[in-house]
Amino acid sequence: MAAPMPATNPFLKFPYGPIQMECDAHDLVVEGEIPADLCGSLYRAGPNQRFKPRGDYHLFMGDGMVHAFHIKGGKVDYNNRWVRTAKWKHEDREARTLINPMNPFECDPDYSDFVFTDKDGTANTATVWHGERLLVMEEGHPPYELDPETLESLGSWNFRGKLNTAMTAHPKIDPETGEMVFFAYMATGPFAADVMVHKVNAEGILTESILIPTPYSAMVHDFVVTENYIIIPVMPITGSLERAMEGGPPFAWEAEKGVHLGVLPRHGGKTEDVRWVEMDLGFTFHFMNGFDKDGVITVDCSQFESAPLFPTPDGGSSGKSEPHLTRWTLDMNAQHPRATFARIDEYVSEFPQCDPRYAGRAYRHGWYTSPDGELKSTLEDSGYFYNTIGHFDHQTGAVDRYSCGQAMPSEAIFVPAYEGAAEGEGYLLAVVTSFETRTSSLYIFNALKLADGPLAKVHLSHSVPAGFHGSWRQGD
Ligand SMILES: [Fe+2]
Repeated sequence: MAAPMPATNPFLKFPYGPIQMECDAHDLVVEGEIPADLCGSLYRAGPNQRFKPRGDYHLFMGDGMVHAFHIKGGKVDYNNRWVRTAKWKHEDREARTLINPMNPFECDPDYSDFVFTDKDGTANTATVWHGERLLVMEEGHPPYELDPETLESLGSWNFRGKLNTAMTAHPKIDPETGEMVFFAYMATGPFAADVMVHKVNAEGILTESILIPTPYSAMVHDFVVTENYIIIPVMPITGSLERAMEGGPPFAWEAEKGVHLGVLPRHGGKTEDVRWVEMDLGFTFHFMNGFDKDGVITVDCSQFESAPLFPTPDGGSSGKSEPHLTRWTLDMNAQHPRATFARIDEYVSEFPQCDPRYAGRAYRHGWYTSPDGELKSTLEDSGYFYNTIGHFDHQTGAVDRYSCGQAMPSEAIFVPAYEGAAEGEGYLLAVVTSFETRTSSLYIFNALKLADGPLAKVHLSHSVPAGFHGSWRQGD
């Protein structure tokens, strides 16, 4: 008999709390009309803790579940599956939690070494479709492969034995060559001060790995790839084994260590070619896009003043900070380049996205989620949930917003209307969870007319717990 979840942890309650089932739902109820040319699958990944956790539960440690909306001919099917990681299988056998992936001291004694040798992780952060494989990532481990239709777990994927590090949850795919570039931080061991950059060709073959020693050991969540550069943002969420051994936080916000951007020439660049560019203090989880022209790199991101969710080394607060769309400029022609940045949008926003056909290129259209102050957060000391989807026009600075009211959208993913469609001409897809019905629906917008409201709402009879990231696989 499974034990009840602790009632006090907000990450185990709606809208974050787990659902306890897997299902296949066919021909979902549609309000409005699904665009006839929309064909493919939208995947969403997130934590969905299966059994009562051991020790303190953090959202980042929940068992990964993937949800998929398969769209074809105006109809939508849905399925969801837990990822059968090694942790999941051990616990399934004993029908209870054995492992705390964030704290080896809180694992069942028989599993005390599990987290040090585990290759699967929790598979709870993001998905990518590349090289004819659907991968689900969690940045501390290699990716895990799922069947794109059934979501059946196929196993940990190490690129035919060539990947010997973890994989970020934010790989970048070059729209022209199909090359996927990704990285792992702390690549050579726990708390190592380095990053490994990997390149995978369009066929899914890992072709190159480049080790980059970093100024200090840091957690690096996302990065930037332009036509000619790879930028690794080392921002001061530091990792320290010594600090952890002394009872302090293993990861902490150390502002005085400063921001260091590692700039690697994308074509032919090796370890010794990395240039480190400093920038005033700030913190970024996610990038909207980046591009370069004549040696000047432009980067757009959701920038905080300091890292939210992370303590200072003495366990204090890193301070309240809200992200805004911010543009960085790095002039690599300078002998000693220093990056500058400027806020370009008035709204608080996160989960930035672009039209993937313009990834790494000069671009006009971006999308994000944002609060409008109408949906109070269920988290203590937190303000408002991000209940609004926004479009930012980099050419005019105009913002187009749609509030979901008493409902919270996921990160919104852009899908072109057809091959050869203009930039931004297409649909924006988000999974929206209602606080009134406690169910989720897929909303499909005209990506350049958000304020008009969704073209279609596709309803589930259950909720998709608030998760992190997703991706699109184009159908045929
Ligand atoms: Fe992320």
